[in-house]
Amino acid sequence: MKVFKSITIAALALSAAGASVCSAQTIKIGFITSYSGLNGNLGPYMERAVRLYIKEHEKELPRGVKIELITRDDTGPNPDKAKQLAQELIVRERVNLLAGVIFTPNALAIAPLATEAKVPFVIMNAGTAVISTRSPYIARTSFTLWQSSYPLGEWAAKKFKSAYTLVSDFGPGHDAEEAFSKAFAGGGGKVIDKVRVPLQNPDWAAYMQRVKDAKPDALMVFIPAGKTATAVMKNFSDLGLDKAGIKLIGPGDITTEEELPNMGDVALGVTTVFHWSAAGDRPANKAFIAAWKKEFGPGETPNFLSVGSWDGTALIFEAIKRQKGKLDPDKTMEIFKGWKFADSPRGPISIDPETRDIIQPEYLREVRKVNGQLANVELETLGTAVKDPWKELQKKK
Ligand code: PHB
Repeated sequence: MKVFKSITIAALALSAAGASVCSAQTIKIGFITSYSGLNGNLGPYMERAVRLYIKEHEKELPRGVKIELITRDDTGPNPDKAKQLAQELIVRERVNLLAGVIFTPNALAIAPLATEAKVPFVIMNAGTAVISTRSPYIARTSFTLWQSSYPLGEWAAKKFKSAYTLVSDFGPGHDAEEAFSKAFAGGGGKVIDKVRVPLQNPDWAAYMQRVKDAKPDALMVFIPAGKTATAVMKNFSDLGLDKAGIKLIGPGDITTEEELPNMGDVALGVTTVFHWSAAGDRPANKAFIAAWKKEFGPGETPNFLSVGSWDGTALIFEAIKRQKGKLDPDKTMEIFKGWKFADSPRGPISIDPETRDIIQPEYLREVRKVNGQLANVELETLGTAVKDPWKELQKKK
């Protein structure tokens, strides 16, 4: 009897193993980001986060399910290239999902393909508010510029009488300008002038001189993170705007973590609003940063693009787990819409079921020295569950 029982158990175990082999399946993620061109150094901050999340959590996947990450370089803000890559990933690689994307023009170019092919597209950076309205297959785990720049404007109106806005002349810059200006003016502040500068290689010295001559109390800047942030700091200081008493403020893109060491002390005191900082002392953030340093080296620090990509991968895992490894695009979107995540490095987040955009905290931060290194110290939580204000204001119209 005992022998019979153990044979039965062994047979069952064998057939279960057989079943898992038969149903073994690979989820293919087509991952598009920038490894060259403007912000080419930022692609790896996203890819590393995705790979680290997969490494730490793949044991949670249904038996036999594997993830294959297929990476592609969109070469910076280059919508034609992004579209071509997405098409190839959909048609030739037959990816289950698209993910990544730093730049708004690229995300907008991919959106219609996601709709046509019914391929869920998880945006891990691009931040212009309108993007998520361009396809029902988009979910965004990064941010919108309205989410940071609107509360920044409200805060600034209590501190400053006048402001000047300087933004890169493309989607997220226009959003940052509009969101900040609306909130600043709404709080009684006066935007004395504004300038939109070319996305690549603007003549910074000339623009900074114009701002200096206008004598605003504060200069609000948005540029697309990366090396451009350091160019802003350098020119702000070289032209003496700090000495003239002008306060530099902006969304967190202007004090991105990986550039702080390149900026030097001119960054001290720069005040920003953002959804995350490496200096945030939430346990989930500390664990994230410790895992990063363990994997990539003690001198390495993630940035906000890493956080959007980490949480985006957590979102994808939820869809895979809930569907036991067999992804249906419409079910995937339904799962995305109800997602809540208590353990994000930024604090608790969720996906807004109406807009498929992220709902997240926003922090007031100031660059200070912590243990001799520049850090975005979180001073205050301006909101714990901030929805994209642009869409909230549209609803009221
Ligand atoms: C964007 O293109 O949407 C974008 C790029 C860089 C940022 C933020 C937004 O830092």
